[in-house]
Amino acid sequence: MDNRDGDYRWEHRHLLGLEMLSAEDIRFLLQTAVGLEDVSTRSIKKVPALRGRVVVNLFMEDSTRTRSSFSLAASRLSADVLDLSGSGSSVSKGETLRDTARNIEAMGVDVIVCRHALSGAAMQLADAVSCSVVNAGDGQHEHPTQGLLDLYTIAQRTGREDFDLSGLTVAIVGDIQHSRVARSNIHGLLKLGASVILVAPPTLLPRGFSDLGCELCFDLDEALPRVDVICMLRVQFERLTRQAFPSVREYVSGYGLTERRMALARPGTLVMHPGPVNRGIEIEAAVADGQQSTILEQVTNGLAVRMATLFLVSTASGTS
Ligand code: CP
Repeated sequence: MDNRDGDYRWEHRHLLGLEMLSAEDIRFLLQTAVGLEDVSTRSIKKVPALRGRVVVNLFMEDSTRTRSSFSLAASRLSADVLDLSGSGSSVSKGETLRDTARNIEAMGVDVIVCRHALSGAAMQLADAVSCSVVNAGDGQHEHPTQGLLDLYTIAQRTGREDFDLSGLTVAIVGDIQHSRVARSNIHGLLKLGASVILVAPPTLLPRGFSDLGCELCFDLDEALPRVDVICMLRVQFERLTRQAFPSVREYVSGYGLTERRMALARPGTLVMHPGPVNRGIEIEAAVADGQQSTILEQVTNGLAVRMATLFLVSTASGTS
């Protein structure tokens, strides 16, 4: 396993967002993930790539998929793994994120994987420590490994082995305003050549996204026949500071992905969701569990993508 290919060399010591990566960086990371995918299907699911290194999961917000995926990814690379959360650590006694991270680093840590409610938390951490930092979701900013595993899944399902997504149109539907997944997906999809339509009620769709090159749309039924991939997003009720729509029933009526509504989409249109899913709100159970759904494939692919991420940031020579 290597962090170079011809003239290209991976140089990012941190993974803070897809906005900061080039298309070449993203493709190289995804190609590295392809090479690691089969480790998880072997009888002994381990390679020695990060033997002797230490990865710390510092999760200050709840997580099921990302946290367990990073733990497994680090184990499969033979790294030592330490799991820390806000409750149960000295953060509950008032210790700052910076002090927590610097104390953990003092034990000889190589990578800190951080999830935090504050947008920009991972960047602040990267400035405070000298080990690598991987952003596992910071507030409404980015969730880069979710974006990467979504790109990986789209490329795999559409046969784009070179990770060139030109000609594909992807709708991202739901609570765009509060979604770090939407932001990472937008940067990644546009860099790899896809077109992006953002679909949401006007109160959950910041107009600034059109400046990035996304189409904005308030009518899901109008967008559905035009897309190859539908990425559904959870309404983040915990981050809503004011009422964004009259009622959940009206939200479901306008933006819920139902079997009836799926009849408007072309056959073979992929249905994605980063999880956690609110069944019956943004997506009907029959659609979430249906033939076109990639929800569990996304989780499976996340493992290889996070193995590639940990390997590359740990072996990078650059300073950013
Ligand atoms: N997709 C995602 O980030 O899920 P978790 O919050 O469970 O990690």
